[in-house]
Amino acid sequence: MIRFLTAGESHGKSLVTIIDGFPSNLPISLDYINFHLKRRQQGYGRSTRMKIESDAANILSGIRFGKTIGSPISILIENKDWVNWIEEMDLEKKSKETPRVTIPRPGHADLVGSTKYNFNDIRNSIERSSARETAARVAAGTVARKFLEHFGISIGSYVESIGDVYSSKKFFNSLLANKKTAIESGWSISLKADKSILRLLDKSQGENIVKKLKSIKKNGDTVGGTFITIATGIPVGLGSFMQYDQRLDADIAFYFMSINAVKGIEIGSGFSSAEKTGSQVHDEIIFNKEGFSRSSNNAGGIEGGISNGSPIIVRSAMKPISTLAKPLNTLDLGTMKKVSARYERSDITAVPACAVISESMLAWVLAKHFLVKFGGDSIQETKDNFDNYNNKSIKRIRTNFRK
Ligand SMILES: Cc1cc2nc3c(=O)[nH]c(=O)nc-3n(C[C@H](O)[C@H](O)[C@H](O)COP(=O)(O)O)c2cc1C
Repeated sequence: MIRFLTAGESHGKSLVTIIDGFPSNLPISLDYINFHLKRRQQGYGRSTRMKIESDAANILSGIRFGKTIGSPISILIENKDWVNWIEEMDLEKKSKETPRVTIPRPGHADLVGSTKYNFNDIRNSIERSSARETAARVAAGTVARKFLEHFGISIGSYVESIGDVYSSKKFFNSLLANKKTAIESGWSISLKADKSILRLLDKSQGENIVKKLKSIKKNGDTVGGTFITIATGIPVGLGSFMQYDQRLDADIAFYFMSINAVKGIEIGSGFSSAEKTGSQVHDEIIFNKEGFSRSSNNAGGIEGGISNGSPIIVRSAMKPISTLAKPLNTLDLGTMKKVSARYERSDITAVPACAVISESMLAWVLAKHFLVKFGGDSIQETKDNFDNYNNKSIKRIRTNFRK
C-alpha cells in the first residue's frame, strides 16, 4: 500500500513529503516533478506570493540514476518567502516585537484550530491549514502520475465555472456521452487548459470571468467555482465492493474533499442523475473486439465501487477564499469585542490551481488502487501482473459464462 505524509508550515523554511511504497525501477526526473509543481502556481487571481515562490523539488532519497529504488522517496520544497518571516517563525523564541494574531477569519481554520490545539496565537493555526501544503501533495501526486503513465493512464483537469459564470457544458456532456472523439487522453485536456490562465477549455466566457474577477477584487471580495478532473486509460477492476472502505468512488471523494476549500464533489452525472430516470442514466453495456464498454458514461467510470474501464470523471466545487480584503465581522479574542476580520495577503480565487492539485489527488488514489490490485516490488513485476490480467480477464469471463 502506498502512503505519503506532508510536513511544513506555510511560512516555515520548507515543505517536505515522504512517499512510501512505489516499486523500484520507475523512471522519474526532477524536471518532471518541477514541471507539475509549476503548474500548481499558475492561474489568474492568485496573490503576490506566487511571484515570490517558484517551487523546486529537492529530492533527498529514493531515486538513483533517474529511477526509483523502492526506498521511501523524500522531497523537500523550500519556501522562498521564509526569509521574510524568520522572526515570526523562529524555532526557539518569540521576539518581543512579534505580534500575536488574535482575530479569527470566518470560513478559515483560525478559531477551530486555536480552540482545538489550545493556542494563544492564531498564527499557529494559519500556518498549517494554509493551502501552501498542497505543493507537497503535488510532489507526491506527481510520482503517482509518473507511475500511472507507465500503464497508459493519464490525468487532466479544466475549470468549468468561476462564481456564477459557467463555460459551455458541451464538452462535459460529450464526456458523459462517452464520445470517443471527446478526448484523446486526460493529459490532452490539461495541455489545452494549461494554455489558459483560467484553465478554461471554452474561451468564450474568458472575458466575462476576468471582468467578474476584477469587479470582485474591487469590492474586496473573493469567489470560488467548479472544475472537472478526468483520468483515461483506466483498467477494469480498481477498487472493490467487498468492503465499504475499498470502494474507488468513496476513496476519490475522500482525497478530493481533503483539498482545502473543496466543498462538494460528484462522479459522472452525480447530482443531476437524481433528477432523471434509470433509463436516462444507466450506461448500456456493449461488447466488441476491444472488449466491454458502455454506450455512455454517466457512471463516471465507476460501478459498484470498481472502475469499469471508461474514463473517470470527477466534478468538484471550491468555495470562495475566506480571507477578504473587505472583511466580514468577527471577534477579537483578546478583547472579545466585535471587529472586522484580519486581512492578510490572499488569493481572490484559486480554482485553476485547485484543479491542478486535484489531478495529483486523483493520480494518488488511482495509483493506490492500482498497486493494491497489481502489486509488485519492481515496475517490471507490476507490469507482468497487469499484462497477465489484461490478457486473460475478458477471455475468462467469456469461458466462465459460455452457454
Ligand atoms: C490552491 C489554494 C489556494 C488557496 N489560497 C487561499 C488564500 O490565499 N487565502 C485563504 O484565505 N484561503 C485560501 N485557500 C483556502 C484555504 O486554504 C481554506 O479555506 C482553509 O484551509 C480552510 O479550510 P476549508 O475551507 O477546507 O474548511 C486556498 C485553497 C487552495 C486549494
